[in-house]
Amino acid sequence: MRVLLTGGAGYIGAHTATVLAGRGHEIVLVDNFANAERDVPARLARLTGQAMTLIEADIRDTETLTAALRAHEVEAVIHFAALKAVGESEVDPLLYYDMNIIGTIRLLQAMRAANVGRIVFSSSATVYGQPDSAPVREDAPTRAENIYGRTKLVMEDLIRDLARTGPLRAAANLRYFNPVGAHPSAQIGEMPRGVPNNLMPYITQVATGLRPHLNVFGTDYPTADGTGVRDYIHVMDLAEAHALALEYIGAHDETLTLNLGTGTGISVLELVRAFERATGRPIPLHFAPRRPGDVASNYADPSLAARVLGWKARLNIEDMCRDAWRWQAAQAGINDI
Ligand SMILES: NC(=O)c1ccc[n+]([C@@H]2O[C@H](COP(=O)([O-])OP(=O)(O)OC[C@H]3O[C@@H](n4cnc5c(N)ncnc54)[C@H](O)[C@@H]3O)[C@@H](O)[C@H]2O)c1
Repeated sequence: MRVLLTGGAGYIGAHTATVLAGRGHEIVLVDNFANAERDVPARLARLTGQAMTLIEADIRDTETLTAALRAHEVEAVIHFAALKAVGESEVDPLLYYDMNIIGTIRLLQAMRAANVGRIVFSSSATVYGQPDSAPVREDAPTRAENIYGRTKLVMEDLIRDLARTGPLRAAANLRYFNPVGAHPSAQIGEMPRGVPNNLMPYITQVATGLRPHLNVFGTDYPTADGTGVRDYIHVMDLAEAHALALEYIGAHDETLTLNLGTGTGISVLELVRAFERATGRPIPLHFAPRRPGDVASNYADPSLAARVLGWKARLNIEDMCRDAWRWQAAQAGINDI
């Protein structure tokens, strides 16, 4: 298919582009480089052998998007572009409403104008808030516990409403759990700016010596070792699920809402130990009280994605740690793998 990726130079978008190219899809990348390095498209071209069209634009620029969709005869959009920092969303809600909600409306207007009726959307497990129990199924109650989560819920609703009323023919709302890891080539990976918000990039930065220790927030959760439990998923498994979802909605006029996780909960301490095993690098720990708003345990029931797409995560926690480290080590110029 000819597919346009908003946020295609970002972490999950770039990994998805490698998988899509490998499956013969033609890719147009749209990114404003608010949170991506400028050399990502060139890296993608080297990795995949496909010179992807790059359009440097903001998704709120409907005119440019409409023109791009028409000029490249795009058949479907994968919509990654968004702001994603929970803390920042609470500090500047208008910024998040503008980028995420207005941005998605502008994109959907461009798709309507160019008669593109298929979309895969990056949603998040954050839409479940504090889940009543885990594993979490797609029919669990959704609740926004911060502005970022609210924008994801609104964007999902926008897409479902347009699919129900006609402008969209098919859509997949993909609720990611905790994407980690990097492309096995170590050519692309997650590059957080400033202090990482997520656990794995923080661990890899401790391993390079950039940060002295890892703070473990909460050791008295009702989990096996007292630390918080999450569902980490390798970004390459996630990328493959996007390709399958794209191909599915290319062939069926349906609206899907799917969890993308492994279905296995891993605690903070288990992740740290797996990282140390996979890389041989020690991670010094500091134990600290719980952070407000953190959930004890949240992991997916991914069986619907297995049934509908025939997809299942294949890479394990050691693979995730090894690839995250290979990428971070390459960035830091460390050559010990
Ligand atoms: N990484 C995670 O942990 C995670 C978890 C759940 C959901 N998600 C969602 O997945 C999507 C991709 O996340 P990611 O981790 O790859 O983030 P990312 O920041 O690496 O990628 C987002 C990309 O979008 C671009 N972008 C942002 N605003 C834009 C705009 N207005 N116009 C054009 N481009 C714009 C950025 O430059 C960046 O390249 C986001 O929607 C995010 O909310 C991410």
